Amino acid sequence: MLKYVVFAAVLISCVYGQTFRPTPNNCTICHEIVGEAERRVHNVTSQQALQNQLIQECHQMERRDGPDAGKNCLAIVNDNIATIYTDMKAGKRPSQTCYDIHACSTLPTFPTRMPDANMKQEAEISKLAAVRMAMMNKVRKQRMRASNPVA
Ligand SMILES: *[C@@H]1O[C@H](CO)[C@@H](O)[C@H](O)[C@H]1NC(C)=O
Ligand SMILES: *[C@@H]1O[C@H](CO)[C@@H](O)[C@H](O)[C@H]1NC(C)=O
Repeated sequence: MLKYVVFAAVLISCVYGQTFRPTPNNCTICHEIVGEAERRVHNVTSQQALQNQLIQECHQMERRDGPDAGKNCLAIVNDNIATIYTDMKAGKRPSQTCYDIHACSTLPTFPTRMPDANMKQEAEISKLAAVRMAMMNKVRKQRMRASNPVA
């Protein structure tokens, strides 16, 4: 008899004791699903395909975080799919997209994208050019001094 009580208790705690983390806010929800979609979908072919993918993410989130998270997630996706789609097409970062659709109220202040590779290269080249220029000036001064010993 005791065995059955214990078994029932374990069963009940398995069914009801499933714990979710606190319902994530809209900004967190947005970051997670848009970031995940970006990792999974490298070639965004259509708005519909992206929407289906994001809805899948929402269902996963619902299993993980509970029905409120799932409901907000679906509302965020379905109300804003056009903006999410154009932003992803334009290569915007999730933080920008989530700000654009008002899921997040602020943009992070730290840079979310590495400086453009070309810009970095240009900076390196102009640094090298400056060093070269300085060396040439030095050599020119030495030559001038050499050719004009009195100075
Ligand atoms: C993306 O998918 C479309 C349609 O399937 C295809 O025409 C295009 O070449 C793909 N682009 C890349 C970069 O894979
Ligand atoms: C989160 O987003 C949903 C769907 O857009 C909205 O109904 C809800 O009010 C939002 N919650 C907050 C706290 O802004």
